[in-house]
Amino acid sequence: MSSSTPNAVDSPAVITVNLFLCVVVFVSVFSFLIAPGGLAWALSKPRPKSAIPGPSGLPFLGLVFAFTSSLTHRTLAKLSNAFNAKPLMAFSVGLTRFVISSHPDTAKEILNSSDFADRPVKESAYELLFHRAMGFAPYGEYWRSLRRISATHLFSPKRVAAFGVFRRSIGVKMAGKVLSDMERNGVVEVKKILHFASLNNVMMSVFGKSYDDFGENGGEGEKLEKLVSEGYEVLGVFNWSDHFPVVSWFDFQGVRRRCRKLVSEVNVFVGEIIKQHREKRSSDGGDTAVYDGDFVDVLLDLESDNKFSDGDMIAVLWEMIFRGTDTVAILLEWILARMVLHPDIQAKAQKEIDSVIGLDRPVTDSDLDNLPYLHAIVKETLRMHPPGPLLSWARLATQDTIVGPHVVPAGTTAMVNMWAITHDERVWSEPDRFNPDRFLTEDVAIMGSDLRLAPFGAGRRVCPGKTLGLATVHLWLAQLLQKFEWVEAGPVDLGERLKLSLEMKKPLVCRAVVRA
Ligand code: HEM
Repeated sequence: MSSSTPNAVDSPAVITVNLFLCVVVFVSVFSFLIAPGGLAWALSKPRPKSAIPGPSGLPFLGLVFAFTSSLTHRTLAKLSNAFNAKPLMAFSVGLTRFVISSHPDTAKEILNSSDFADRPVKESAYELLFHRAMGFAPYGEYWRSLRRISATHLFSPKRVAAFGVFRRSIGVKMAGKVLSDMERNGVVEVKKILHFASLNNVMMSVFGKSYDDFGENGGEGEKLEKLVSEGYEVLGVFNWSDHFPVVSWFDFQGVRRRCRKLVSEVNVFVGEIIKQHREKRSSDGGDTAVYDGDFVDVLLDLESDNKFSDGDMIAVLWEMIFRGTDTVAILLEWILARMVLHPDIQAKAQKEIDSVIGLDRPVTDSDLDNLPYLHAIVKETLRMHPPGPLLSWARLATQDTIVGPHVVPAGTTAMVNMWAITHDERVWSEPDRFNPDRFLTEDVAIMGSDLRLAPFGAGRRVCPGKTLGLATVHLWLAQLLQKFEWVEAGPVDLGERLKLSLEMKKPLVCRAVVRA
């Protein structure tokens, strides 16, 4: 009795204390979770003194669902607006801390700073050995030497010009394929044709190899297409393991398994091409001086100086196929969709081509400088439909650093929402109107110096293939517009789907009518 009496008397007090403790724990956990930017920011050390504005997102998950949707760039743009955080917004995805800039000034600060010259390596990229390739290699000597070598041997203006004849012949074959598809089906789905042409183009400049089967008939070209498509799929998947370490034990999405299978197939495919190059070199007496044909030979020369292993070489070569193929094909598909939707703009471009080149003379690289309206169309499409709306692969802060008035802690993933910038009415007048003429009145540089339109990124990690990419897009567009009038075969759907690049959700199907 005596022992129960005090308990009975104390119980309301005990309950009150317990309740109080529960409330304290609840409030602290809750405020922890709703900290600006969410959980990963709440856990960050050091915590920035002036909090970067941003959504807390769902408890523990953060903004996961922005990334599992296919319109991440639009969701993030809306949030930056809502949080008044265009210059810099903080958010979390699981335990990953992000900042994103939707403003040219902070975009410039991030992209041009050596503190953001690293990239976060996703599990899929690591499994695909891309950390040994240029795009994901840590900022350091290995990455620098890859940039140097490719700048000299793959992307220099001389090399890009030297491959002009080959680009032109692919353009001619592409037009032939469009014609045959039109004769067979009465309509043409351009995506596959553009993709295969682009793949062939990169294969020739990098591997010195080309395919004629347009990815059909079960040939080597089709096999390569399948490998590349699987790579895009697997790199484009939102992988929970990248942000929730516990989940990474299970590989429940099968990303690791798919990557390992793909790597073994790529090793065989690319390994065979390297072997053929080696055999050719040894049958020619090993005189390396004569092997300046393609990028494989360049890397093989360096291999003899022990700079690259076979694995490194495969990663570097494979990444070039990856980065160079999709972007060019996707951009051209968007441009053709715009041509179909805006016949007046198409007619103006054709008038320019007719006056500079005529209907019959084949277009060459040297004509391109005389086609300012065609250039303006490409710029306007890059503005409205940037292939990398979030600049494809993000950056990583290597040390605590300042952006605007804020400290961004080391280890934060930094992104630039180029799509938000190019659709901001404070940066561009009538941003939703497709109007190439705006680039005739104002010459906007698009190679990375003007962050109002930097579809190739900027700074140390700016796209090294930008000149090659643009040379290809300009030439093929001129060839396709000279030869055909592009006409609707049903409504054109401008819906988007962000995978590795920003694709048309519904592939463009239209009619290509031979111009007389
Ligand atoms: C329309 C065509 C293209 C677009 C829009 C594009 C866009 C981009 C973007 C936005 C980046 C990230 C830049 C940054 O972080 O600041 C990038 C990087 C890269 N691009 Fe491109 N690209 C194109 C064509 C190409 C081509 C043709 C190649 C090669 C054949 C290529 C190879 C690369 C590589 C290797 C990187 C990684 C560079 C590094 O991290 O050091 N790209 N590209």
